[in-house]
This record gives sequence, structure tokens and C-alpha cells, in this order.
Amino acid sequence: MRSPKDFFAPLAVGAPQPPRQIPVRPSRMIHFFDPGNEKMAAKVPDIAKKTDVLLGNLEDAVRADRKEAARAGLVSIAKATDFGRTQLWTRVNSLDSPWVLDDLITLVTEIGDKLDVIMVPKVEGAQDIHYVDRLLAQLEARAGLTKPLLVHAILETASGVANVEEIAGASPRMQGISLGPADLAASRRMKTTRVGGGHPGYLVRTDPVGDDLNEGRTTYQQDLWHYTVARMVDACAMNGILPYYGPFGDIRDVVACEDQFRNAFLLGCVGAWSLHPVQIDIAKKVFSPSPADVAWARRVIAEMGDGTGAVMIDGKMQDDASVKQCRVVVELADELAA
Ligand code: GLV
Ligand code: MG
Repeated sequence: MRSPKDFFAPLAVGAPQPPRQIPVRPSRMIHFFDPGNEKMAAKVPDIAKKTDVLLGNLEDAVRADRKEAARAGLVSIAKATDFGRTQLWTRVNSLDSPWVLDDLITLVTEIGDKLDVIMVPKVEGAQDIHYVDRLLAQLEARAGLTKPLLVHAILETASGVANVEEIAGASPRMQGISLGPADLAASRRMKTTRVGGGHPGYLVRTDPVGDDLNEGRTTYQQDLWHYTVARMVDACAMNGILPYYGPFGDIRDVVACEDQFRNAFLLGCVGAWSLHPVQIDIAKKVFSPSPADVAWARRVIAEMGDGTGAVMIDGKMQDDASVKQCRVVVELADELAA
């Protein structure tokens, strides 16, 4: 498999700059399943037809006494299933856990040829990626693998956020980074008790209307994750890898899930995790540019000719910079249609 970095050509000085952020393969939703759960495992072949990425989860949400069963389950599912174009990822246990060494040894040697990406949780700095990188190189050599495994980091500790730029550039294996809002909230000692999304107490009020300051006020809920997502997107863009929103735990609140995913999409993320089949469709909708946006982007590109100068389209000024934004939208649409 080509490294994600192969997709980011150097920019020619003075030339119109192509967008650098192109998904390697569609990964709008990373669908989590517990490979030790037989009911869930039985659904894998069907779910694989609907999702861009299937991820066998070995870390949090798998009980300590089910870790070996989850690992063994993933090995047998991977051997027995044809995933077609769907990518198979895994989330291994954290690097300070008693399970991770066996996770990596078993998975790389047994099913390394089936796996595309290893997601590493609770990454604190570049040293964690260097450790995994060396270990993978040894295990790939032992297993005779020719395709290098890629690495995806979860940004879910205060130290990880502080070091996000060095994490993103720590290895050519780096495929992307996901926000991990639940662990990050705990690490930062935030006062939330949920997995991702907003909080009804975190808000701003509109300006008061009328004479009575208590009347006519509306509240708007704000995005608790804006700062971290924006930092993560910049670190990923700088290193030519892909940013993702992580989990949204309130499965029934499909509206808030869609809102959170859309905020992340607009800020530059290419996908999010899905924890339930209902979230697969939400992610597919949100992380695919709408036909209207794509048509508009194509029109701007066409009317801008060589991409320099300025034109007015429907009363809106467009110039070189808007063409670059439009190319991002069109290239994403083409990539998803391929
Ligand atoms: C994901 O792992 C999270 O902690 O949000
Ligand atoms: Mg976590």
C-alpha cells in the first residue's frame, strides 16, 4: 500500500497550489466492533459492506477478563472474512497495559496481511509512536510482510494534545489522528460525564433583547472540542496525514451526533468513529460533500479559468484562495466516487 504521504506532492513555488489533504481511501466512518462478542462478530460480513473502515476494538469497552477472547476473535474473523474494499483496522491496548505486547505480536504475525491500520490509544508524544514503529518493523520482518502497517494515534491526553505536532510527524507510518474526547476530558479534569459531543451547561447567551435583561435571551450550545480539533487538523495538514473526530456516545441523539460530526467535517476532519450502525449513515452523509456544494465548487473552478484573479459569481467575490477551497471539495468528491 502506498503511504499517505505519497499523495501529497511538493508544492511548486508560485504555481497554483493543489489541496494537499486527500483521503488515501475513503474512511468517513471507522466502525467499532468487539471481536470477542459473538453476536457482533456474526454481523461483521454484513457491516463490512456498509462501512469504509471496520475496527476490531481490543481496548476500552472490552473488559479485562475478555481481552484474550477479543484478540483471538479478531484473528479468526480476519482469517475468515473477505473485506472487499473495506479497510480492517484494530485498536490495540494502551502502551502501559499488560496486553499490548501480545496484541501486536499476535495480530501482526497472524493477520498482518489483512490489517491496514493499527490505532494506538493514549499517545503522549513522539516516543510512543517510535516505540510502535520499531516493534512493527521487527514483527513485519518476522512475518515476511511486504506491506507496511500504518499507525493511527488517538489524541486523548493533555500531554498528547501538547505534543500533537510531533506525534503527527513521528513516523512515515502515521496515517492519521482521532480526537478521543472521553479520555481527554478525564485527563484534563473537565467536568463532563459523557463520551463526546457538547454539554447543556457549556453555552453562550445571545445579547439581551428589550429592556429587561432576563427576557428574550436564547442560549447557544458551544463545541467543547473546537480547540483540540483545530489543533489536530493543523498538525495533520502540516504532516500530510488525516484528522478524525472520535466517538459520540449518545446513540439515540442522532441530531447532536450529526451536528458534532458536521462541525468536525467543516473544520477539516475526514471522518469519525461509529459505535452503532445508525452512526454509519450519519457519517456517510456528513463526511461526503453535498451534491450542491460540489456543483458550486465546480462552477467556481470553471469560471476562475486558470485559477488566478477574481470573478463575481451570484454576487460573491471569488479569487485564487476560494478556488483552492473548491478544489478540496471537488477532489474529495472524486475520491469518494472512485
Ligand atoms: C476514545 O477512546 C475516547 O476516550 O474518547
Ligand atoms: Mg479513550
